[in-house]
Amino acid sequence: MKTILTGIQPSGALHLGNYFGAIQPAVELAKQGQAVYFIADYHALTSLSDADALRRYTFDAAAAFLACGLDPAQTILFRQSDVPQVHELAWMLSVVTPMGLLERAHSYKDKIAQGAEPSHGLFAYPVLMAADILLYNSDLVPVGKDQKQHLEMARDIAQKFNDRFGPVFKLPEPIIGEATAILPGIDGRKMSKSYGNTIPLFGEGNAIKKPVMAIKTDSTPLEEPKQIEGTPLGQLMQAVNPGAYPDFVAQAATPGTGYGDLKKKLLAEIEARFAPYREKYDHFQKNPAELEAILADGAKRAREIAAPILAAARKATGLSK
Ligand code: TRP
Repeated sequence: MKTILTGIQPSGALHLGNYFGAIQPAVELAKQGQAVYFIADYHALTSLSDADALRRYTFDAAAAFLACGLDPAQTILFRQSDVPQVHELAWMLSVVTPMGLLERAHSYKDKIAQGAEPSHGLFAYPVLMAADILLYNSDLVPVGKDQKQHLEMARDIAQKFNDRFGPVFKLPEPIIGEATAILPGIDGRKMSKSYGNTIPLFGEGNAIKKPVMAIKTDSTPLEEPKQIEGTPLGQLMQAVNPGAYPDFVAQAATPGTGYGDLKKKLLAEIEARFAPYREKYDHFQKNPAELEAILADGAKRAREIAAPILAAARKATGLSK
């Protein structure tokens, strides 16, 4: 059975773009092998300075995956920092990682260009990510396009280690998320927290209604047919309920249907689809011990996988016998 590993950065309130772009594909992929999924709180620490926020976002991200159908009996779900052994491996990888490799990292350069402090943690981020991947003997690593280079770096680093110390690591294969998974936000740009154009995943009442009613549309008058294919309104409906999409397009093309009616229909579809997830999510929020128990069990199983691999790396380097 293949090991499918990925890390999820805890980044605050989740939205429909996160669901369709990351959560749903990860939940589906988990059925095809041994999924090892963790909430990357060490990585998040490179950009977060608020302890309560990091704790809360980490908890919320784990709750979201479980609420959206991830099966904790089949999946190893854990907090990255519950397996601190990853840092020992990161150090061993660090000594074989060329400076030039890290200096070419787009993600580092982008973050600095956007005003982030050039810290060592930010610079060494890809080494820790390589350690995450190699510590669990991963076969497949599903990531978004923005993480493609980090995956290539992980393979390079594994190869460098093997060349210098002997064949300890398996080279992981990336699975790069397709562009089709990109959901438009209410203004038509990619749905993203940084654009402020999101529809929340676990919102209720006005929290969802407000952004849905604000979806950008043109000024076609009420009595004229509306062409909604390819518009944010159409694409959102297509993602939320593909079965109801053809009727939705037909309804839009019927004179007398207003954008307000169409948005209300989309709103009802969002509520119908996500209400069960929201209930589970709220359940974990009210019963945090249940989720903590799942994460503790996940960390225990993760450590069991990691132990022999870390031991092999220590032996190969001469840190232990
Ligand atoms: N850097 C990844 C992101 O921002 C998160 C991550 C951390 C990760 N460690 C990983 C992804 C290991 C895949 C494998 O999305």
